[in-house]
Amino acid sequence: MEKLFGLFGHPVTHSMSPMMHNDAFQQLGIDASYKLFDVKPEFLKDAVLGIRALNIVGCNITIPHKVAVMDFLDEIDDEAKEIGAVNTIVNLDGKLIGYNTDGRGYLESLVPVLTKRLTEQRVLVLGAGGAARAIVTVLAREGAQEVIVANRTLSKAKDLATLTNHDIIATTIEEAATELNQFDIIINTTSVGMSPNIEDIPVSLDKLKADCVVSDLIYNPIRTKLLIEADKRGAKILDGVGMFVNQGALSFEYWTGQKPNRERMAQLVYQKLGGTLC
Ligand code: ATR
Repeated sequence: MEKLFGLFGHPVTHSMSPMMHNDAFQQLGIDASYKLFDVKPEFLKDAVLGIRALNIVGCNITIPHKVAVMDFLDEIDDEAKEIGAVNTIVNLDGKLIGYNTDGRGYLESLVPVLTKRLTEQRVLVLGAGGAARAIVTVLAREGAQEVIVANRTLSKAKDLATLTNHDIIATTIEEAATELNQFDIIINTTSVGMSPNIEDIPVSLDKLKADCVVSDLIYNPIRTKLLIEADKRGAKILDGVGMFVNQGALSFEYWTGQKPNRERMAQLVYQKLGGTLC
């Protein structure tokens, strides 16, 4: 019988996850289908109970349910607990286990573009929401030399700074901009610059170090204003497709025990985005 997988979120209409996972199932000869489930917050508990009832094998969880879903699971893996959010559920014979693949997915996209070890890098993370939590947790775990979180709302950056045992500094975006030449890696986790507001930039790059790595989690557009400007100044740039693909591939591995072809997944996503943007 065809195995069922899916994404719970609200809204989920524009997700590229079904395209990516269904292609991987086909490539690996797995009789399975990945569907979108638009789950309103008031129905989240019912939807999660439905995973067991309908024998859905695995799920991704996205905005706005990544934190709330934790209350309805049987077990939460340590990394997801540390991040404080779940983006992947595995239904193991009726036992629902929560994981978080966002942080590792990001790290696996970042490491190949680095020329120095993370332990020798000072990192600026812009934003203090869910994505920033996953990334800061993984950077702290990997022992980045310094992690600074800059956010529009300073109190949220301060909350995030206390999340791990690592020494994380909280600041404002304006202050970070004045010290931008101190950073080796800059990571935008805010929605600033996302379509349709493609002319917006989350931080001024006037003081950017030329050999800096500038990374944007946004993948619509693929080249955000931040990346365009950073590229012009000689920085190495990293778009958000890698993280999107890697977090999905890691979820896929939890569900099936098999490794999908990540290059093929990325190609599909670039094709799709290219097609919609032009
Ligand atoms: P995600 O789960 O994708 O990280 P989120 O939890 O809603 O999304 O977090 C969004 C982040 O983008 C927050 O850090 C938010 O800043 P605030 O904490 O001040 O709200 C940031 N953000 C969103 N719109 C912004 C804007 N116009 N300018 C600056 N920061 C913005």
